[in-house]
Amino acid sequence: MQSQVTIKTLYRMKEKGEKIVALTAYDFPFARMVDESGVHLILVGDSLGMVVQGESSTLPVTMDEMIYHTRIVSKGVQNAMVVGDMPFMSYQPGKSHAIANAGRFLKEGGAAAVKLEGGTAVSEIIKAISEVGIPVMAHIGLTPQSVHQMGGYRVQRDEERLMSDALEIQSAGAFSVVLEGIPSEISEKITKALTIPTIGIGAGPHCDGQILVLHDLLGLNERPVPKFVKQYARLVDEAKKGIKQYAEEVQAGKFPGKEHCY
Ligand code: KIV
Repeated sequence: MQSQVTIKTLYRMKEKGEKIVALTAYDFPFARMVDESGVHLILVGDSLGMVVQGESSTLPVTMDEMIYHTRIVSKGVQNAMVVGDMPFMSYQPGKSHAIANAGRFLKEGGAAAVKLEGGTAVSEIIKAISEVGIPVMAHIGLTPQSVHQMGGYRVQRDEERLMSDALEIQSAGAFSVVLEGIPSEISEKITKALTIPTIGIGAGPHCDGQILVLHDLLGLNERPVPKFVKQYARLVDEAKKGIKQYAEEVQAGKFPGKEHCY
């Protein structure tokens, strides 16, 4: 079993060229499974809006919902670093708003860090949150909270802009950065240019680590998954099989059996 993962662990891993394994989780039982499987960083992502709440984007997710999920994830985690994802409009309005909300993730949610989306446009906010002692993970490239501005969930190819965003958020004090929906050659260049670890999703193999949405990796939903996802299981089929069998047995009077009765 690994020991408590901290920012220092992640920096050391980048230095040694060891890949960082990150994954999302949204509740206690899955957080426990992810942690016990040796994942280094668990993100309580606002992707929960889509994979848990059934929304069509991450925009409706609220601070209170994120704090609730972060708290129940933190309870299941012993070793991984828990990062809480700041939802839409919880940091964009300004520094003091952002600091207060980031603080809630640590104080009420039990997280060790927060993540927020954006590059140069939010670098002052990253700086302000970092300066009060809260580690910030940045997120550039395809940033789902800007879906309307991007005109959909599109791969981001503007190398110059991506590189300047990456350098700027590093100078602002971010301890790590998620690179989402970026061609492999560009994320390779960014990864080489930065001293902080890059965590890729749809950004190719050259990042310092990889992250996926747990429900996509495990096949927990029936929705189609993006090209960059590898499904390691199809739990939705297993779950439906079990539920159907239960329904059949109740209707046939087979469940509960003698062994289930007092
Ligand atoms: O919300 C989320 O789960 C994320 C990851 C996919 C990086 O931002």
